Amino acid sequence: MASSDIARHLLYQSRLERPSSSPAEEVPDEMFLKRGDCSRSLSLSGKVGFDSLPDQLVNKSTSQGFCFNILCIGETGIGKSTLMDTLFNTRFENYEESHFESEVRLRAQTYGLQESNVNLKLTIVSTVGFGDQMNKDDSYKPVVDYIDAQFEAYLQEELKIKRSLYNYHDTRIHACLYFISPTGHSLKSLDLVTMKALDSKVNIIPIIAKADTVSKNELHKFKIKIMSELVSNGVQIYQFPTDDESVSKMNATMNGILPFAVVGSIDEVKIGNKMVKARQYPWGIVQVENENHCDFVKLREMLVCVNMEDLREQTHARHYELYRQCKLEEMGFRDNDPENKPVSLQETYEAKRQEFLNELQRREDEMRQMFVQRVKEKELELKEAERELQNKFEQLKSIHHEEKRKLDDKKKILEDEINAFSKRKSATELLQAQAFATPASINVKKDKDRKK
Ligand code: GTP
Ligand code: MG
Repeated sequence: MASSDIARHLLYQSRLERPSSSPAEEVPDEMFLKRGDCSRSLSLSGKVGFDSLPDQLVNKSTSQGFCFNILCIGETGIGKSTLMDTLFNTRFENYEESHFESEVRLRAQTYGLQESNVNLKLTIVSTVGFGDQMNKDDSYKPVVDYIDAQFEAYLQEELKIKRSLYNYHDTRIHACLYFISPTGHSLKSLDLVTMKALDSKVNIIPIIAKADTVSKNELHKFKIKIMSELVSNGVQIYQFPTDDESVSKMNATMNGILPFAVVGSIDEVKIGNKMVKARQYPWGIVQVENENHCDFVKLREMLVCVNMEDLREQTHARHYELYRQCKLEEMGFRDNDPENKPVSLQETYEAKRQEFLNELQRREDEMRQMFVQRVKEKELELKEAERELQNKFEQLKSIHHEEKRKLDDKKKILEDEINAFSKRKSATELLQAQAFATPASINVKKDKDRKK
């Protein structure tokens, strides 16, 4: 466990246990038994000094500093930024967000604050565009994804061989302020769906925003209505712890006042001779820190002064633990085997590795078989194609032979006809020559004879 974790754990424990100044011999046995410690209780005959351990832890934690992360979920312009400024008495960087976002997104900003000698790394995450879309079915998903992503980052750091949780910037959300619109009627379905999706992941503190816009009677009824709707829909909101005697009474009372109806403003108005944070209207002044006007002070007391450490503790011990458990189970890790015998991490890892190797082998065999099958199929296909080509070739060859034979026959007939024709032609020419030759030769002879 990292020293910051030990400090946190022991600080939490020390609140539940007796004050550090109590002598050790006065610790009752049942306290040891309660902690599952069966060692024998002995009395000391003189001062040893380990009673300074809580102080050592406090000093160490103080020098390390603390971190606290708040998630503000609420419609655009509902007063998220104003309330944060009012809570921490400062002006954080605020931008007016657009009302035309196509989907919900989250904007995180981290600040370093100091009060006395305590340093606080504060991260404020606000929803942007929440409730602005026509279809609000998936509005809660980016919020869930964001919270899970912070758990995952922490888990990854924890699972590293070389962990640096000591100086790790823990971005897990410790408190989720859910801003309810001051309608005076009931919760919107978006509110119920979102809170239901988040209740196992984060400490939800519902608040009625801009409570100065609802009358006193309406506010009372509105609070009762909201709480009954949360109960009937099974939404688990954060309960201020009642196991620490010093604050149990106050926390129990505050649990009955939820949801806090708050007003935010850092504008100061002079009341009597004092400057107070207030909202000024034509008809009067709403004082932010006046408990008759709103529950702002109660919220600040519960969130910052009394339960900040419990919120951090619950985030780590309850919400993160659940996330870690589900994640490790998803990865195949179990504490017990199917016969309920404890299994070590090493055994689980070996079993998982073997399972993985078997699966790999099975897939390899399957792929090899598939490959051989495909090659066979391809070979058959190729052989078939070759046979078809051969047949086609043979067919074409025989057609070619037949046509050649026919052409040769025709050629022979034509040659015979040409020969016969040539013979007839030469016979005809001979006859013609004879026919022309007879009278002419007679005439030539006659001429010759006359000349003689
Ligand atoms: P985006 O970040 O833009 O979503 O708004 P936001 O939720 O941070 O609201 P912001 O704090 O910017 O306040 C919006 C308007 O509401 C400002 O004009 C504030 O003065 C006003 N406002 C804030 N808190 C209260 C309140 O408690 N009562 C009333 N009546 N108005 C408030
Ligand atoms: Mg804002």
